[in-house]
Amino acid sequence: MKKRNLLISLTALATLALFVVVYSSCKGPKGDPGPDGADGTNGANGNDGLNGIAGIDANSFCRNCHTTANWTAVETQLEASKHGDKAGNMADEGTNKTCSRCHSQQGYLETLVTGQDTSAAGFVGDFTLTCDVCHTFHGTLQESDFPNYAIRKVAAFPSIFNPSISFDKGGSNICIRCHQNRANTSVKITGTTVNLDTIADATTVQITSQRYGGHHGPQGQLFAGVGMGLYEITGTATYTNSTDHANLICGDCHVLSTANNTNETGGHYYKLADRDETTHATIAGTENVTKCVTCHTGTTDHNINNVQTDIKALMLAIETKLVTQGMMLNTGGPNGYGGVNTTGYIIGDNGTGNASSSNPRTVTAKKAKAIFNFKCVYEDYSYGVHNANYIKALLTNANAAL
Ligand code: HEC
Ligand code: HEC
Ligand code: HEC
Ligand code: HEC
Ligand code: HEC
Ligand code: HEC
Repeated sequence: MKKRNLLISLTALATLALFVVVYSSCKGPKGDPGPDGADGTNGANGNDGLNGIAGIDANSFCRNCHTTANWTAVETQLEASKHGDKAGNMADEGTNKTCSRCHSQQGYLETLVTGQDTSAAGFVGDFTLTCDVCHTFHGTLQESDFPNYAIRKVAAFPSIFNPSISFDKGGSNICIRCHQNRANTSVKITGTTVNLDTIADATTVQITSQRYGGHHGPQGQLFAGVGMGLYEITGTATYTNSTDHANLICGDCHVLSTANNTNETGGHYYKLADRDETTHATIAGTENVTKCVTCHTGTTDHNINNVQTDIKALMLAIETKLVTQGMMLNTGGPNGYGGVNTTGYIIGDNGTGNASSSNPRTVTAKKAKAIFNFKCVYEDYSYGVHNANYIKALLTNANAAL
């Protein structure tokens, strides 16, 4: 019995094995795949391997900013701005080592390392600003450190205007290294250049350049305000800084305002209003207020508390005096505040030609200081927003001095 059972079992096994072999060697077409299984649960957060803090959901968090759409938009804005304008003043000034520090990305990055006022030589190539002029790496990727725009940290640095004065305005330093006054080298006494800071107000001096002033980018100086290089001549107004915007850096208003592609304002267009290239007048309706309204609820322009109106009125009063006294050219305007001079040029003692070494403008040191301050406010183009109290004091005392 046992033997017979074993025989039957062996026979059955052999038959099964044969069946498997036969079946598998001549199987039919594969059936449709079955439905997907249910999703598994998420794995545990990773460990950053450094100090045991759980990793965060990096993918979604980083892509708040790092998307192709964002990056392409920023690149397009930068190229349309003056910082990225291959045909503008970033186009050829970089070949000159005196200008390259501020008119080329190469000169900026070189002088940041060397600490020199100028680069060793001029450059050839494309001078427009690249991302790494203003950005580096985040430093940390800890979520609690965000928003973190990977802004380049620029240490305190001596001003070009007066090396004994240092700028230390945190995240604004990147911009101020370029948006600061150049040295005032066109005031002379009997042919020798003098430092107006050390000249008594009543002394007679000569202005020897029609372009007398701080050179186009005084915004850093005015934003930093008291004691930062403007000539604080005596008068009825006292010099104090507005503190309302003390916690803002340049980029908070100029870059974090939502980009407007029609007027090319905000974002990496940098400017906050479109300006007529000839008259420098703000084009009505183009003011970008997207950042301002987060604090100045409901405003539709930059003229908060009528500050811009007041500053423009003071500027017009000063310009009118300079033109009437034959010290400033009448180019037929109108300019950004209703005046007639669109170049800001100073004219020499002969009353017709531009000021120069051979046709200087002879004035008291106090007037020379007042004119310089006026030219800085003129070229600031914020009409008070950068430091309302300080700018108002500069103009009030300049107006009285003239
Ligand atoms: C708030 C916006 C924002 C967030 C969120 C953000 N980044 Fe950035 N990141 C930037 C900006 C702006 C830059 C500088 C742009 C440049 O240099 O190209 C930058 C630069 C970088 C760079 C250096 C690129 C280079 O060329 O040097 C790396 C790497 C980077 N980010 C990784 C990350 C990672 C990983 C995360 C998430 C943990 C993250 N970022 C989250 C805005 C952001
Ligand atoms: C300390 C930095 C700095 C240096 C050095 C410098 N510039 Fe500029 N320059 C600026 C800034 C900033 C602006 C733009 C300001 C603005 O648009 O409000 C500017 C604007 C200009 C403009 C445009 C003026 C206008 O009214 O539109 C010209 C032209 C110019 N610079 C030429 C030069 C030349 C030439 C040199 C060298 C001899 C030079 N710059 C050196 C910072 C500098
Ligand atoms: C002239 C300086 C400058 C240059 C050049 C520059 N950035 Fe920025 N960027 C800033 C500043 C300032 C902020 C805002 C920081 C703040 O206010 O805290 C910013 C913010 C950003 C942001 C976050 C805001 C947004 O618009 O989405 C991104 C993304 C960014 N930059 C990417 C870039 C890239 C990519 C480039 C090169 C194509 C570039 N930036 C070139 C100064 C610059
Ligand atoms: C490498 C020097 C450099 C740096 C850094 C720099 N700028 Fe400029 N900026 C210039 C020069 C030069 C011009 C004028 C270019 C021209 O006239 O073609 C200019 C022009 C501008 C303008 C006028 C734009 C217009 O369309 O009229 C604004 C606004 C501005 N910069 C803001 C900033 C802010 C904000 C920062 C910092 C986030 C900054 N800049 C950093 C050199 C610099
Ligand atoms: C509170 C916001 C705010 C801050 C902070 C700020 N600006 Fe401005 N800036 C403005 C406004 C508003 C204007 C003028 C726009 C108008 O009404 O025409 C302006 C004008 C300018 C212009 C002239 C632009 C043009 O169209 O010719 C430059 C350049 C500039 N700012 C650079 C800077 C720099 C550099 C810093 C930091 C040192 C800075 N700003 C800080 C709001 C700001
Ligand atoms: C972080 C908040 C904040 C932002 C952003 C901001 N401001 Fe202000 N600003 C203030 C405060 C607070 C005051 C003082 C209270 C007031 O006058 O409304 C002020 C005052 C002013 C003044 C008047 C100063 C005076 O002496 O009367 C002007 C002009 C001004 N802001 C312009 C602007 C413009 C233009 C923008 C946008 C480009 C802007 N501000 C963005 C907070 C802000």
